[in-house]
Amino acid sequence: MSDKMWAGRFAKALDKQADDFNSSIHFDCKMFRQDIRGSMAHAAMLGAQGIISQSDSEQIIATLEEILKDMESGATPIDMDAEDIHMFVEAELTRRIGDVGKRLHTARSRNDQVAVDIRLYLRDEAAEVVDLLKKLLLAITSQAKEHKQTIMPGYTHLQRAQPITFAHHLMAYAMMFTRDITRVEDAVKRMNVSPLGSCALAGTTYPTNREMTAKDLGFDGIMLNSIDGVSDRDFCVELMSAFALIMTHLSRLSEEIILWSSWEFKFVELDDSYTTGSSIMPQKKNSDMAELIRGKTGRVYGDLMGLLTTLKGIPLAYNKDMQEDKEAIFDSLETVKKCLSIAAPMIETMKAIPANMRKAAQEGFINATDLAEYWVKKGLPFRSAYKIVGQIVALCIEKHTVLEDLPLCEYQTFSDLFADDLYEAISLATCTFSRTSAGGPSVASLDAQLCYVAKFCE
Ligand code: ARG
Repeated sequence: MSDKMWAGRFAKALDKQADDFNSSIHFDCKMFRQDIRGSMAHAAMLGAQGIISQSDSEQIIATLEEILKDMESGATPIDMDAEDIHMFVEAELTRRIGDVGKRLHTARSRNDQVAVDIRLYLRDEAAEVVDLLKKLLLAITSQAKEHKQTIMPGYTHLQRAQPITFAHHLMAYAMMFTRDITRVEDAVKRMNVSPLGSCALAGTTYPTNREMTAKDLGFDGIMLNSIDGVSDRDFCVELMSAFALIMTHLSRLSEEIILWSSWEFKFVELDDSYTTGSSIMPQKKNSDMAELIRGKTGRVYGDLMGLLTTLKGIPLAYNKDMQEDKEAIFDSLETVKKCLSIAAPMIETMKAIPANMRKAAQEGFINATDLAEYWVKKGLPFRSAYKIVGQIVALCIEKHTVLEDLPLCEYQTFSDLFADDLYEAISLATCTFSRTSAGGPSVASLDAQLCYVAKFCE
């Protein structure tokens, strides 16, 4: 005979290998607090509705509270031979108070129980992800505040394009992370409805009060269809999509930090405490943390694809395939949390090297658009100006010089519209700080951006 709680109809015990294969305790043990909290709300409702007696309800709740304390202190270790965390808690309850404990599972199934537990767990964890995103924003904005006047080349196609400031570049990432915060918060809003009381899939004949448990557990309402309540994991997918995008943003930023730290750029120097050396090359200082963040992005995408694929073919309602949700979401969550936690101090302690940024900005003809615009302001159509500036750039390349240093007489061979004021018009400072359009690199625009982002950090 099997010793399982569901053993009634079985003549033989589960094969040992099958038992291990079936078990989820190794990963769902993380949710013991949420499982107990959900059970306490359920027991209170059963008592209030007269489905079980008040005294049984009270005894169950008091004992669950003790179990929670004992599990937290380690006095009651989790039995890793249990099938899952729900079975373990129920078995422990019954071990302590016998038949009264056996009443807890009235009008409930593990199917709605697990759906509640994951939601409660993710709700708490998502709040932590948002906190970490805020810390990252603080690190980025503290750098941006220092570098509103630090001119660097802005790139397209990784070719020097137009002048920007380091603050302008960093704040682009800050904006992305503000949207990540709202994406996580949006997902939580949709997730925060209670499936408890859906039971196995079809509800129950007991006079349950689903609103009561929903309120007790801090949900905003109940899921209106019991089959949906136990069947979907779209809330996991939504959160994991938000996590995948966080990783996309972190990974692009990491890639830039890796490039900027190289001798080819040397725009920044990472702090020693966030870099490593080589076992053979004594000169090396590697950006391992940034590389790992970039690398771990792959596994967060993989977790998302894995769960989507698991879900796509399963008929309603609950199927055991769905047990696969937890390792995917937990891995994605832990990875995102670790990456955010390391990115913030890595960025905070990073030293910018303005002189190198400026030097790069001076070498790439990034004021060519401004030269064309100077000319347009004197009456030439943009397309014509664009073409001739191209020829002037070619001349500079040939003469190993830059637009700022090309003598006026050379300019005047192209047009007598050129005058001395052109040098002021194409100086790096003018090209950068007179880009006063909203969202641009000007100090006023950066101040507005910093002010917007600061609201997310409150
Ligand atoms: N460990 C299961 C899971 O994570 C709990 C639900 C089990 N339900 C069932 N009918 N076997 O999905």
